[in-house]
Amino acid sequence: KNKDVHTMIEAHELLKKFYHHLLINTKEGQEALDYLLQRGFTKETIEKFEIGYSLDSWDFVVKFLTKRGFDAELMEKAGLLVRKQSDQSFLDRFRNRIMFPIHDHHGNTVAFSGRVLNKNEQPKYLNSPETKIFNKSKLLYNFNQARLHIRKQEQAILFEGFADVISAAASGVEHSIATMGTSLTDEQAKILKRNVSDIIICYDSDSAGADATIRASRTLTSIGCKVRVAVISDGMDPDDYIRKHGPEKFRNDVIGASVTLTAFKMQYYRRGKNLQNEGERVEYIEKVLHEISSLKSPVEQEIYLKQLSSEFSLPIEVLKEQIHRSSGRKD
Ligand code: GTP
Ligand code: MN
Ligand code: MN
Ligand code: MN
Ligand code: MN
Repeated sequence: KNKDVHTMIEAHELLKKFYHHLLINTKEGQEALDYLLQRGFTKETIEKFEIGYSLDSWDFVVKFLTKRGFDAELMEKAGLLVRKQSDQSFLDRFRNRIMFPIHDHHGNTVAFSGRVLNKNEQPKYLNSPETKIFNKSKLLYNFNQARLHIRKQEQAILFEGFADVISAAASGVEHSIATMGTSLTDEQAKILKRNVSDIIICYDSDSAGADATIRASRTLTSIGCKVRVAVISDGMDPDDYIRKHGPEKFRNDVIGASVTLTAFKMQYYRRGKNLQNEGERVEYIEKVLHEISSLKSPVEQEIYLKQLSSEFSLPIEVLKEQIHRSSGRKD
């Protein structure tokens, strides 16, 4: 069993190197390389994240691995091969994709995510399945490379996509990590908490990203992490932003300008609400007051109460009375 794990990892390591070679040095990889360079990935970044290319072939990996003595059935269990329905023959899982190797927290290569070159193909990213060596819900992308930076800076930046992590790290924001396209799990949060308490969430600026920010913040605060949110402007994701505005603006105007979770929620609860409408306005104010009442620091409470008070021209005493009454109702 242990030997199988070792063999699975070895196959991933070998294949990772070969995918990388195909991308960098071959005619077959040229289109993929051009795509990456045109997207703004540098040669240096491609090296650092060991990005590769899988050939447009049904059996290249089958031959590559079996020729080197790897058992095809074990390689299917490792997620590198799949089986054809009709005759049970082995086929490559990843074909004609840009290959991002996924490392576990010790640095072993345990999975791949393959991105299409052509925008219209589905799925955009094809991930390795869950295997004995790849547990999506316990793995944070780039954690192995980011860990020391996280410890040194006493902060981690959590992204939605690993393209974002790669761009951020290339921009000098090296304490960057991401989940594998799923929402943050309790296990991942606990792993983070063992290394750091301060987390900045920097998800995509669409509404899915905002909803996911709220969910991840709950998971993190429930185990005692302090969460801030770095907000990206108008529909972009962090990678788009860096490409458009450059690393310095990203560091200063996005990461450096992160807001408290409460400030983020005050914006978030406005979505789709018409605050000109009295009922909706009251609903909004009560929601924010509920947030404020859960803050531990009286100073913080005062700051947001003042903000709310001046925005809606309500005396701060009234807001305090409202908090007092709502909390009274509970006990
Ligand atoms: P680019 O389009 O290459 O910039 O990717 P992105 O990182 O911006 O992707 P997106 O915001 O659409 O998704 C965020 C993350 O969700 C990705 O990093 C993936 O982990 C995951 N994801 C996106 N699309 C798919 C998909 O089609 N299948 C799977 N399994 N995961 C996906
Ligand atoms: Mn290389
Ligand atoms: Mn997204
Ligand atoms: Mn994105
Ligand atoms: Mn993107």
